[in-house]
Amino acid sequence: MNHQNLLSRTGNLQARPHRGVVLLSARELDKMRRVGRLAAKLLQHLEPMIKPGVSTQTLNDEAEQWTQAQGAVSAQLGYAPPGHSPFPRSICTSVNDVICHGIPHPKQILKDGDIINIDVTLILDGYYGDTSKTFLVGNPSATARTLVEVTHDCMMRGIAEIKPGARIGDIGAAIQEYAETHRFSVVREMVGHGVGQQFHMEPQIPHYGQRGSGLKLRPGMVFTVEPMLNEGSRDIKILSDGWTIMTRDKKLSAQFEHTVAVTEDGAEILTLP
Ligand code: MF3
Ligand code: CO
Ligand code: CO
Repeated sequence: MNHQNLLSRTGNLQARPHRGVVLLSARELDKMRRVGRLAAKLLQHLEPMIKPGVSTQTLNDEAEQWTQAQGAVSAQLGYAPPGHSPFPRSICTSVNDVICHGIPHPKQILKDGDIINIDVTLILDGYYGDTSKTFLVGNPSATARTLVEVTHDCMMRGIAEIKPGARIGDIGAAIQEYAETHRFSVVREMVGHGVGQQFHMEPQIPHYGQRGSGLKLRPGMVFTVEPMLNEGSRDIKILSDGWTIMTRDKKLSAQFEHTVAVTEDGAEILTLP
């Protein structure tokens, strides 16, 4: 029996779990589309500001002001999972050898040749939208540009695996294969995640793995695909601020993230502007 079709017809608002994974109804997916689009538009809004001389705090402040003006809320400001201090800013700004969860600061000024990932997560009408992109500041090295391009393509190759009946391991395998073809490494400590009425939910989506392994995908599942690729080794280091995650060898790292829904015949990217 196809429960998803039944739900689409009845418009049932109840989120139902399958093996601990929530399946969203058609009406919930509409709310996810709205918040997803808004998060993508925030990245689009910030893009022209990403130039040498701007501080990551200025990007944060613009993001917070824009988010409030849209009637949305930053999910990241004050976010405190068990064992973590509250995240002190509205967006994550991860520059060069920072892999993720970089904290915006007024003394951190972007310079020509940097790469910066901006990760935004918004809450609108009770639903979360999570997306990030790595931007070029001025003219980065050929290696930096290749890393950024390959990381984006890894995300899209992972998303291309998504359809009912495919498995979570298929996503990670596609990402890992393409990254390693280009001699980049994949970070393993941070994974994609289910997202909906909460920020981080089941299932976990590793960006490495084996085809045919893991949970089978079903229509109505919504999760992020957010690979982090390192220029050098995959080893990480966590700063004493409790948040900033860096490459151990101080080489570059890049990341892209979309929130994606499993549909009847494939995948729908929810975080496009
Ligand atoms: N947006 C990140 C993710 O993709 C999480 C950031 S949590 C924060 O899951 F507290 F650092 F903002
Ligand atoms: Co995420
Ligand atoms: Co994110």
